[in-house]
Amino acid sequence: MPLAVWPVAQTSAQYQRAGRYLPECAQHPAKMLPELARRIVTEYSTPGSLVVDVMAGIGTTVVEAAALDRRAVGVEVEPRWADVARANIDHILDPGRRPLAEIRVGDARKLGDVLGDLAGTVDLVCTSPPYACDVGNMAKANWGSGGDLCPSDERNYSTDRSNLGHARGAAYEAAMADIYAGCFALLRPGGVLVTVTKHSRRGGRTLDLAGLTSVLARRAGFTYLAHVIALHAAIRDGDLVARPSFWQTTQVRKSRARGEPAHLTVHEDCLAFRRPEVPDAH
Ligand SMILES: C[S@@+](CC[C@H](N)C(=O)[O-])C[C@H]1O[C@@H](n2cnc3c(N)ncnc32)[C@H](O)[C@@H]1O
Repeated sequence: MPLAVWPVAQTSAQYQRAGRYLPECAQHPAKMLPELARRIVTEYSTPGSLVVDVMAGIGTTVVEAAALDRRAVGVEVEPRWADVARANIDHILDPGRRPLAEIRVGDARKLGDVLGDLAGTVDLVCTSPPYACDVGNMAKANWGSGGDLCPSDERNYSTDRSNLGHARGAAYEAAMADIYAGCFALLRPGGVLVTVTKHSRRGGRTLDLAGLTSVLARRAGFTYLAHVIALHAAIRDGDLVARPSFWQTTQVRKSRARGEPAHLTVHEDCLAFRRPEVPDAH
């Protein structure tokens, strides 16, 4: 299995977005690094190809793919984030590239409904699903006055419990199995699926989301191509310099206080799969 390390965070996420992405993006709790989206698009597609993100968030993949002269279509279930994605597209892309990018509101579990017109024609699906763990923005003012640092009604992308940000365990697995099967049908034979996920810890245990993703994608018919470590720490003079959020630092401190050997996670797993040219006889 080819293994690579991409140093995509030599500059911070804020720096990578500054002056390009709109300030509203800060409200979305789990965005892809623009440098990572560019790297995936450049590595696994060519100018003129069709790139899709089936869980598009504020549109990072779509914006970066269109800026690199790909046609790019994103699907996002929350109208709130789809609106931010469209605003980013209008704000960032020059008039010549603006028509390359499109966002559709829809459910990635029903890709046939929302992207049926693209079935079998997509060159690259690049997507980062929810990570089956809580994500949210820090409410420091709330915390300072004795409240929750990450209020529960603001977690996991939406108060709507059908958003997959809330799915855990078997429900998460079943939904992601449907989504990867939908991605398979969307891609042309030979097309590539790239997923970006991150391990998380819950109840003292690590959730190996990359392992689960590779099982689900292979069950959907994909061939496993490569595992890339997308570094979220910077490399400085040969050392890794982490940039943890206050939330991450707090969580690791709490875990250690409970006696768990926790460390900061300073990478995401970027997995590449191919839809075989010829269907597998098995
Ligand atoms: C990790 S975020 C993706 C962020 C994106 N890569 C970006 O840079 O903004 C996952 C996204 O999946 C969306 N989502 C959750 N359930 C979904 C579903 N059933 N269909 C489509 N999108 C969904 C969430 O609302 C969230 O915006």
